[in-house]
Amino acid sequence: MLKLNCFLLLALAIAVNCQIETTTPLWTSSSIIPTTPPPPTSTTRPPRQVITVTNGEKEGQWGPLERCPGGSRAVSYQTQNELATPRFDDTALNTIVLFCNDELVTNFTSTPGFSGDFLAVKTCGFGGYMTSFQLRVSPAGTEADNTAVNDIRFRCSNGDEINGIGNTDGTWGDYSDVCENGICGMETLLQPYAGGIGHYDNTALNDVRFTCCK
Ligand SMILES: *[C@@H]1O[C@H](CO)[C@@H](O)[C@H](O)[C@H]1NC(C)=O
Repeated sequence: MLKLNCFLLLALAIAVNCQIETTTPLWTSSSIIPTTPPPPTSTTRPPRQVITVTNGEKEGQWGPLERCPGGSRAVSYQTQNELATPRFDDTALNTIVLFCNDELVTNFTSTPGFSGDFLAVKTCGFGGYMTSFQLRVSPAGTEADNTAVNDIRFRCSNGDEINGIGNTDGTWGDYSDVCENGICGMETLLQPYAGGIGHYDNTALNDVRFTCCK
């Protein structure tokens, strides 16, 4: 009886649809064995290492994690700063641009800021790559016009330090941990432009964190 039903269904499927491969195989549904999902294959991979500093500020939203193309790592950086001017609402460091050592010299920002000039590109010498960083921060509440992050500098695998040339308010915090294989990704905490004169104290970049290359 079962065999007959199968044959009839099969014949019907062919006759009606001529698409047996897309016809729901009702006659085998009772033999489908529920499967458990395969075990995760990533359990042996260590978690992605992220380096941070403790003196960042807190305003804004974290931008997307952007990364160097596979196999490359960050060797240069550039910042966009509103350099100290007698402005009403200074934001100091706005944007960090990282440059990778792939053939296309890929660059990325996580989140671009909204004001200031792009300063000189700083590069690790002698084939070095960036491994740790430090922030110069003017903490909230210390001045009427808060600026949050003022400057950033990096240490390179060859011992170089590529210096910040940004704003000079605030103080340098401690260096982050070291990415032994270099820096491959970046996320920035940016307070987007808000309000107008007399309504809001814009600070632009507030914090940054980097992911280490594997
Ligand atoms: C960064 O990359 C963009 C393309 O994504 C390119 O247009 C731009 O010129 C690059 N910036 C620098 C400073 O090389």
